[in-house]
Amino acid sequence: MDLFDLAGAASGPAREDMGPGAVLLRGRALASERELLAGIAAVAAEAPFRHMRTPGGFEMSVAMTSCGEAGWVTDRRGYRYERCDPASGAPWPPMPEVFAALAQASAAEAGFPDFAPDACLINRYAPGARMSLHQDKDEQDFSRPIVSVSLGLPCTFQFGGAARSDPVRKYELRHGDVVVWGGPSRLYYHGVLRLKDGEHPLTGGLRYNLTFRGAL
Ligand code: SIN
Ligand code: FE2
Repeated sequence: MDLFDLAGAASGPAREDMGPGAVLLRGRALASERELLAGIAAVAAEAPFRHMRTPGGFEMSVAMTSCGEAGWVTDRRGYRYERCDPASGAPWPPMPEVFAALAQASAAEAGFPDFAPDACLINRYAPGARMSLHQDKDEQDFSRPIVSVSLGLPCTFQFGGAARSDPVRKYELRHGDVVVWGGPSRLYYHGVLRLKDGEHPLTGGLRYNLTFRGAL
């Protein structure tokens, strides 16, 4: 590593390899942090955050909304994508340009050129909220990666393998970090441990996560 790498000038944000087709781009979203947070507020003004229920009837601790051509929903009928917000009956808000641009550029840097997300799930974690190990498998075509952007309070992200019982690695995801997983790791199990109390200068006591998908 030379001085340029240390400064991040020549190499861009630090990369951490997380497995086949999976990479953590540290701080990749920092340059657009304010536009991203303004985008979240604009989406939530039209399609408010809500705690949905799993098909088994449990209320999720993470509050969610979506933007783009389709939004991810869950209720008694199952997990799926819907073109309209079930809470309003209206189409989901359009994906802010800054969201799509970051997702596309991050995917390209991770080795997935031409990723054009059509859905962005926005997760909001308050202290105590968590997401148990799961696969993202409600999308039509798994050749497209998942791009995940973390904002606000840090969390512990678990990234495992193709089987639920595979060992998991833990990564601290901080404000501005971007994770991309696709190709061989597209269906790897992942989750978020219970969010700890904290205070972030831009989000207060909350963590936000944007996950971009090619859903339709
Ligand atoms: C998810 O898997 O949808 C969320 C991951 C995260 O919050 O970092
Ligand atoms: Fe997920």
